[in-house]
Amino acid sequence: MRKINIQYAKPDMTLARDIITDTGIILLVRGIALSQNLINKLATLHITTIFVEDPLYEGIIAPEYISLELQQQALSVLSTVLQTLKNKGTLNVQPVIQLSTQIVEELMCNPKTSICLNEIMTHDDPTFSHSLNCAIYAILLGQFNGLNYPDLKELAAGALLHDIGKNDISTTLLNKPDKLSADEFELIKKHAQWGFEKLIVLHWDLSSLVAHMAWQHHEKMDGSGYPRGIGGNDILFHARIVSIADVYEALTANRPYRPALSPKKAHDIIQAGLGTHFDDELGKLFLSKVALYSPGTLVTINTGETALIVSIPPNNPKYPVIRIIKEPDGQPCKPYEIHLEEHPQIHIINSQ
Ligand SMILES: [Fe+2]
Repeated sequence: MRKINIQYAKPDMTLARDIITDTGIILLVRGIALSQNLINKLATLHITTIFVEDPLYEGIIAPEYISLELQQQALSVLSTVLQTLKNKGTLNVQPVIQLSTQIVEELMCNPKTSICLNEIMTHDDPTFSHSLNCAIYAILLGQFNGLNYPDLKELAAGALLHDIGKNDISTTLLNKPDKLSADEFELIKKHAQWGFEKLIVLHWDLSSLVAHMAWQHHEKMDGSGYPRGIGGNDILFHARIVSIADVYEALTANRPYRPALSPKKAHDIIQAGLGTHFDDELGKLFLSKVALYSPGTLVTINTGETALIVSIPPNNPKYPVIRIIKEPDGQPCKPYEIHLEEHPQIHIINSQ
């Protein structure tokens, strides 16, 4: 399957993956042939990215960490929770606790050995997909670090709810495409404290650790973060995990003020913050598992050919299998595959 921006969609292309809305409703099922009418409707609904069939991309599968059913359920639960809060209703965390359990169990049933860009982002609402993707990355990092089942469930709940304080901030400000003023940034920074205050009152239903993850997820190891400027071991271990997952997800997702960065760029930004922004050991562990290019990405290699990323070896995410599709002069060639693990002299020099 090939991932394309909706502006490049053409009639008769076949959809290779279901499209779900930010509230978990299936809009279109895979296998359907697109028409101009459908393409226009998707664009109106702010669907920015779709997956289509393409013979050159045969056998290339974009990773999905959790089942479509659970994705739908997760987006539905998150949108209900946030909508209830917006309407000043009482926060019922039971569905979130249940959801955390299900996500952890699905990930434990099918253990992963690398972190590939998760593609639950077929729409451009940043809130729900951000929380869900962040939870998945946090659980993966927790698993790599050997956390047990109860710890992983708490971690999942904290990651799903870490930005809940943003509910008190207008979407106009959260989605502002221009640079924030100092006052606006100060207001946005309050979401960590507000999230903590919302969650700590639910301490009979929810571990206080969950509230602390919301409070501490923007703290930095050198004490330069917010809201309190705490650092080092004063930042709880779970919050240090959420901090890494949160930044990686935010960097690799489209934002109103910038397009998504590649996993490679996000990797380099996290690497630059090891020990100062992020926990050094946790950050290194995370980066050692990150695939720099997700399957389907178009890349150029050092010998000049154009290739596609085909798959990520489970234990060696930095050395993908690639499919050469163009000669160095840009002419299409008969596709063939190279395992970069076996050819260390070949490396990727850029990606699209
Ligand atoms: Fe946040």
